Amino acid sequence: MAKKSDIQTLLNDAARRGIAYREGAPTRRVAPSASAVQDAQQFVEPLPDCGSNDRDVLAMLDRVGSPATVSMVGPRYFGFVIGGSLPVTVASNWLSTAWDQNVGMHEVTPAAAILERVAMDWLLELLGLPKDSAAAFVTGATVANFTALAAARNRVFADAGWNVEADGLTGAPPVKIIVSEETHPTVFKSLGMLGFGRNRVVRAPVDAQGRIDANRFPAMDGPSIICTQAGNVNTGAFDPVAEICALAKPKNAWVHVDGAFGLWAAASPGRSHLCEGIAAADSWATDAHKWLNVPYDSGIAFVRDAGALQSAMAIKADYLMTETEFRNPSDFTPELSRRARGVDVWAALKSLGRQGIADMIDRCCSHARQFADALTSAGYEILNDVVLNQVLVSFGDDATNRRIIARIQEDGTCWCGVTVWQQKTAMRISVCNWSTTVDDVDQSLDAILAIAKRETA
Ligand SMILES: Cc1ncc(COP(=O)(O)O)c(C=O)c1O
Repeated sequence: MAKKSDIQTLLNDAARRGIAYREGAPTRRVAPSASAVQDAQQFVEPLPDCGSNDRDVLAMLDRVGSPATVSMVGPRYFGFVIGGSLPVTVASNWLSTAWDQNVGMHEVTPAAAILERVAMDWLLELLGLPKDSAAAFVTGATVANFTALAAARNRVFADAGWNVEADGLTGAPPVKIIVSEETHPTVFKSLGMLGFGRNRVVRAPVDAQGRIDANRFPAMDGPSIICTQAGNVNTGAFDPVAEICALAKPKNAWVHVDGAFGLWAAASPGRSHLCEGIAAADSWATDAHKWLNVPYDSGIAFVRDAGALQSAMAIKADYLMTETEFRNPSDFTPELSRRARGVDVWAALKSLGRQGIADMIDRCCSHARQFADALTSAGYEILNDVVLNQVLVSFGDDATNRRIIARIQEDGTCWCGVTVWQQKTAMRISVCNWSTTVDDVDQSLDAILAIAKRETA
């Protein structure tokens, strides 16, 4: 067993190394060098017969591992949709990792369960969702979609006189699943995991921004679940959720909203119009590790009908404290045992407050606009309406775009990814990090424009 002084030395060393990594993020290359990635092969070795000194283990992790990371926490990482973890949430994460709580049952983890409950209530208020909704703190939007759709499955089948939790899908009445041409792949995966099948869906047509066209919405002629989206992963566009809810409610159809990042628009007075009417839906999925900038992994499912979620997720066992007056976190999540994700969410909300979160959302959106304006002025084509934090830019044909994006990634000043939007290859810029400044955008633009100019000369 490690002596007290060993623990102090080891954890202080980890903190020192973590702090150095974070302090270096604004100035280091975003993508690691090829040699750093090559050096990470040092990890590939036979399972050691004998152990090593803990400090040496940590030192190797830092010496070999840190240089081979992509600096996703840095202010010029614009790939995928990636938050940068606010310092207070890294700190809360370190402390709650030290607590090492299993957040299944309230009575054995009161602090974490209370923090999660508070975080849930604050989120419902901040995002303008019905206050009696239930929330599940899960790994990310993929599992949040899965969790919310499990509740949908429970309720829609129950309404059709079928207990899907008890009797499964064999022999169950048909349920129509309506998605869109632009539904995120994780929703299809969730549908597959829930036994609906990834392909047994009806696809609603979309417009040029990827929004469902409510005028061409498929008929709902029986029990139905509708998957809408707040924030298209390419364009940032929002489905007309309010209109779809108005069509769905008379048919008793369940409306789900995948708001992995877009739902956070509701927290900004200047952008909340994008989420108008979204509270009329039945369930919502979002990520905290994207725009709330908490460390991986962290997502949340919200479900208006708390009973449907609880029926889909809760278990009973004589050895567990499942009969309780408290809210047991595991009654709402796929996992029984898990880490205290709500703590970091609470820390972010407590540290920033309503105003700080709105400022963070607005800042990212204004950086996205700065990118779009500068790239347009330089003569490049912006393929989307920049309504949020996403920018799609094309520098020319497919090969030119791919070449330029590869050079930008190699250059290391910033990092942007490639996508194909409505048959056109483009570079995706996603601004999601709390620490990005106007200066970071300027530096990135200088690098992007110099490379684009050189590669198209
Ligand atoms: C709209 C949408 N849904 C779901 C996801 C999946 O989120 P995660 O990777 O956190 O599971 C993403 C990720 O970017 C997304 O943009």
